[in-house]
Amino acid sequence: MCGIFAYLNYLTPKSRLEVLDLLVTGLKRLEYRGYDSTGVAIDSPDSKNIVMVKRTGKVKVLEDAILEHFSGGEYSEPVMTHIGIAHTRWATHGVPCERNSHPHRSDEGNGFVVVHNGIITNYNDVKTFLAKRGYEFESDTDTEVFAKLVHHLWKTHPTYSFRELVEQAILQVEGAFAIAVKSKHFPGECVASRRSSPLLVGIKTKTRLATDHIPILYGKDDKKLTSDQDIRPHGQTRELPVLPRSDSTSEFMPLEEKEVEYFFASDASAVIEHTNRVIYLEDDDVAAVRDGTLSIHRLKKSLDDPHAREITTLKMEIQQIMKGNYDYFMQKEIFEQPDSVVNTMRGRVRFDGNAIVLGGIKDYIPEIKRCRRLMLIGCGTSYHSAVATRQLLEELTELPVMVELASDFLDRNTPIFRDDVCFFISQSGETADTLMALRYCKQRGALIVGITNTVGSSICRESHCGVHINAGPEIGVASTKAYTSQFISLVMFALVMSEDRLSLQQRRLEILQALSNLADQIREVLKLDSKVQELAKDLYQHKSLLIMGRGYNFATCLEGALKVKELTYMHSEGIMAGELKHGPLALVDGSMPVLMIVLRDPVYVKCMNALQQVTSRKGCPVIICEEGDEETKAFSSRHLEIPRTVDCLQGILTVIPMQLLSYHIAVLRGCDVDCPRNLAKSVTVE
Ligand code: G6P
Repeated sequence: MCGIFAYLNYLTPKSRLEVLDLLVTGLKRLEYRGYDSTGVAIDSPDSKNIVMVKRTGKVKVLEDAILEHFSGGEYSEPVMTHIGIAHTRWATHGVPCERNSHPHRSDEGNGFVVVHNGIITNYNDVKTFLAKRGYEFESDTDTEVFAKLVHHLWKTHPTYSFRELVEQAILQVEGAFAIAVKSKHFPGECVASRRSSPLLVGIKTKTRLATDHIPILYGKDDKKLTSDQDIRPHGQTRELPVLPRSDSTSEFMPLEEKEVEYFFASDASAVIEHTNRVIYLEDDDVAAVRDGTLSIHRLKKSLDDPHAREITTLKMEIQQIMKGNYDYFMQKEIFEQPDSVVNTMRGRVRFDGNAIVLGGIKDYIPEIKRCRRLMLIGCGTSYHSAVATRQLLEELTELPVMVELASDFLDRNTPIFRDDVCFFISQSGETADTLMALRYCKQRGALIVGITNTVGSSICRESHCGVHINAGPEIGVASTKAYTSQFISLVMFALVMSEDRLSLQQRRLEILQALSNLADQIREVLKLDSKVQELAKDLYQHKSLLIMGRGYNFATCLEGALKVKELTYMHSEGIMAGELKHGPLALVDGSMPVLMIVLRDPVYVKCMNALQQVTSRKGCPVIICEEGDEETKAFSSRHLEIPRTVDCLQGILTVIPMQLLSYHIAVLRGCDVDCPRNLAKSVTVE
């Protein structure tokens, strides 16, 4: 949901062309977050002004425009210190167009320019306030008010530092944001902050940093000004009260390096090719670089606030975020699954001793065993991983298990109790609805367990305990390997919970055995690729695809249909086969494409029933069945055979043909596989 990237070189000579190249590469890495429009801001050749280039469309369009716009020799002159900011947008306020593209500016002279990820919910009030003071707005965005607010504060408080101006401005805005601000009035400085949207700072120095912490500087004043007090609704005119300057008299220089480069980015994938040393900012941190020195400020200290932010070393490898020999990231990620599932289990499952240890939650297991119920909460694909594992969790934990879509959960103000255990499942760890649901449950005293793929994400940080699924970076917008790893993480949790249940030992052994074969079986399923491609040729011109199954495979139907919708823009529905005769059967005739999952498990007979209902209505379904199941295969000439595994893990093997099918249909329909229209990978707004 919008990607922001800023690059500051201090005493490190770089030409503006090099800076632009860095900014564009950073945006390419963040493109999965939104790709409606893009923009950059750098200093003009005389360093007295700010130049911006914005384009509608993907980063490539911006890259071409930059090549055209900045060909002059003056842009190849090295500059010792410079700050450039960049943005790739997923439109929320205002259609995608150049006018609405970031960076947004404070005034015609480009005094302050801002890139923003998130939504400023009180932007109308701020806009009214500023309009009364003569500001004119040129975009439909919420972001523009921020640039103009900083400008207004600068005019009214000319002695304030850049950091203080931004600090005052963020006090006045509500909602979610990660921002980076550049100003021609404060050359060589950058100020960035976040609230509910992710932001990290990458640090690159020639020698290893002398410290792995950046001390936090707290403001001395603990008066809390709410924006209701300040930015009055209905355009009431009142000057903004401004906090006394916090600690500007004792400006502390926590990280002083001679030559240094800083990268501000929404995500680690944009900085890993430059540095593996990063600081994840927390909500309301204000990070400011001045004279090459990074400092982190907070306006107010509460009792449990730490003294410093840690510099973390990223474990990510650059190859993980490159496409390699694949055409698309999604394709690469589908084919990575034999390895990613092993990585999820690595160091956790001991197949020889039949033991499982989940280090991130082991201390909480006794508490979890005493709980009233388990709640699994997520959005999109992550929600489907909860649907997929619910039955096993019920079986092995013997607890009631509720599975919830985060948005609906919040809409219902669902009752939550102190003895509930709430799981928040999220690949990115930043999905706004999931995060809001987490905070809602945390406030009510429940135990919060995070299941995420992104170390350092908000959900990781705000959970009491959790499991990193370790699937590696997932860049294709449509989630694939994260799903199978989330699935396995929840299966491992179920196994941990049933460790001391004698009556369940046989079942546990059967599952552990199946887990040990899983990677090879996934490799087998991936060999169906060319067969699936042929199938895609039959299906890609149709308008619709119904996917039916039940029991352990219902989640595959939902997830398969989501993949088809996301990637191909075809209509697709995941149908619980048990519901067929209660409505969906009316859709079935000789021309409606249907795919059915019929495996030899406890619901086999019922699935066969559904299959017969479909064929007797002249439907000719594609069947996903078990290897060598002649009886089932006899019902259709088109089938995909998958290896036999334990019932509760079938969903991992059946989802892979669905991932491949949606991928091939998308390619045949000429869709952008990695960046489906209107979507973004990380949805950091509600
Ligand atoms: C977006 C993505 C989906 C993803 C969902 C939840 O809608 O397009 O692919 O499943 O968000 O994302 P999360 O990061 O929380 O798993």
